[in-house]
Amino acid sequence: MASLPIPEVEEIEAIYGLEGAVEATSRYQRLAAAFKEKYGQAPEIYARAPGRVNLIGEHIDYEGYGVLPMAIRQDTIVAIRRGGDKLVVANLEAEQYPEIEFGTDPAQALDVAKHTWANYFLSAYKGVFEHLQSKGIAAPSPVGLQVMVHGTVPLGSGLSSSAAIVCSSSLAIAAVLGVAGSLTKGDVSEFTCTAERHVGVTSGGMDQAISVMGMPGVAMLVEFNPVRATDVQLPAGSTFVIANSMAVSKKAETADRRYNLRVVECRLAAMMLAVALGKPPGEAAAVTTLKQVEPAIIDKYGPGAEAQDKAVRELLHEGVYMPEEVEGLLQRPLASIYEGNASALRVLGVVGPEGFRLRDRALHVYSEAGRVYGFRDVCKSDAAAEDKLSQLGSLMDASHASCAGLYECSCAELDALVGAARAAGALGARLTGAGWGGCTVSLVREADAPKFIAALREQYYAPLVAQGVVKEKDLGECLFASKPSSGAALMKLKLASHEQPAEAPTQPAAAPAEQEAVMYEI
Ligand code: GLA
Repeated sequence: MASLPIPEVEEIEAIYGLEGAVEATSRYQRLAAAFKEKYGQAPEIYARAPGRVNLIGEHIDYEGYGVLPMAIRQDTIVAIRRGGDKLVVANLEAEQYPEIEFGTDPAQALDVAKHTWANYFLSAYKGVFEHLQSKGIAAPSPVGLQVMVHGTVPLGSGLSSSAAIVCSSSLAIAAVLGVAGSLTKGDVSEFTCTAERHVGVTSGGMDQAISVMGMPGVAMLVEFNPVRATDVQLPAGSTFVIANSMAVSKKAETADRRYNLRVVECRLAAMMLAVALGKPPGEAAAVTTLKQVEPAIIDKYGPGAEAQDKAVRELLHEGVYMPEEVEGLLQRPLASIYEGNASALRVLGVVGPEGFRLRDRALHVYSEAGRVYGFRDVCKSDAAAEDKLSQLGSLMDASHASCAGLYECSCAELDALVGAARAAGALGARLTGAGWGGCTVSLVREADAPKFIAALREQYYAPLVAQGVVKEKDLGECLFASKPSSGAALMKLKLASHEQPAEAPTQPAAAPAEQEAVMYEI
């Protein structure tokens, strides 16, 4: 999967299916019309990348462990052409996402303090050039780009709207620069993950990998170093229902006290485990993930989830570690360990008396990593479908309990929604994505899905509608059954009329003035 090229699709049905083709066509048409109106010409090409729902495996990708997401049908589409001497990034929903301009220097810094939606486009732009440089591929000279974006992945919902825009932008940029043909799905998964960190969140690679490598009909076990994805066939008769808690999770804006803090805590936990297992301080300070400490735990405690749990409880103390304690054991200041890591240094700069809860974080990561393989094994087993569903449901429930209790990445709204989902008949329910707001995912028998959705509407959403938090007419976007959908693609759609499909350049692009632009319209 990771070694496959990026698909170039000519039929809208190939991505959106017959049932989604009409709506998708009209969406691309609106994007095309707005693009033409703004820039005076049609885009050269489109790219699209989906959001995702993570079925299990939360906050463990950055610790090196595999996760189990699926791509969803909601996506971001990017229309692009070369032109002008700036990066002009506009959105079909201009009021909400105002147009932003950047220079074309790929080395420009991204202003993390001033978070804007278009920062994700800029991170993709930087990422394409960084990738080419890292592979020793001659980069084309930077040229101005005219861009128009439209996304349907709800923002701050834990469904990876950020990966959808970074991945679709990266493909669009690579295509007009004439380098898309050299990229594999694995390349794009890896460089978009690194690139997205320019916005200031030190996320793992799950979202980008599934956005690029997702496949219709199957969930994916995504593993890392190197990134790879294998199909997981979900049991017959199962449906996953996504429900938005309506608490917005602003991952980038809250990173220092939430997401990036957890990333720091996990590394500190790994270093403290290494010290407790007898590694010299210098060696322990070089450890970066909990996965790296696992072999030493197995050496001393043996394999298996119980042994791991016992080890963490014995080796790490309860409650809070303060920076001084960690620094004492490592015999060096944390600032020196994190030298050059701006996100971690920002976390250390704001850490208060709440300190770091290392034992709890490590207990979550190791147990959640085990649940991912448990989930995959149940899907692969010969058990009866009904047994599979109940086992998967239990794993999802245990995952939520661990996220809420040990990892503290849930919130009152998510807990209430998970409770309502179980009361409405879910076989299992959990938060999905980074948490602190956003969505839950519930496992439901396919036949029960309409009843389940109706009950959740009544129990969770009716009061929110009454309070004016959400409009009745928008509930379909907040609460829906989701099937595994297609991953990212370049869209060279067949034209409705006499015109030809767009051709992205296959050679490094010359400036548009010297090269006849290829037109594309639908
Ligand atoms: C965000 C990150 C992912 C992952 C999840 C939590 O979505 O981008 O890399 O860490 O949170 O599982």
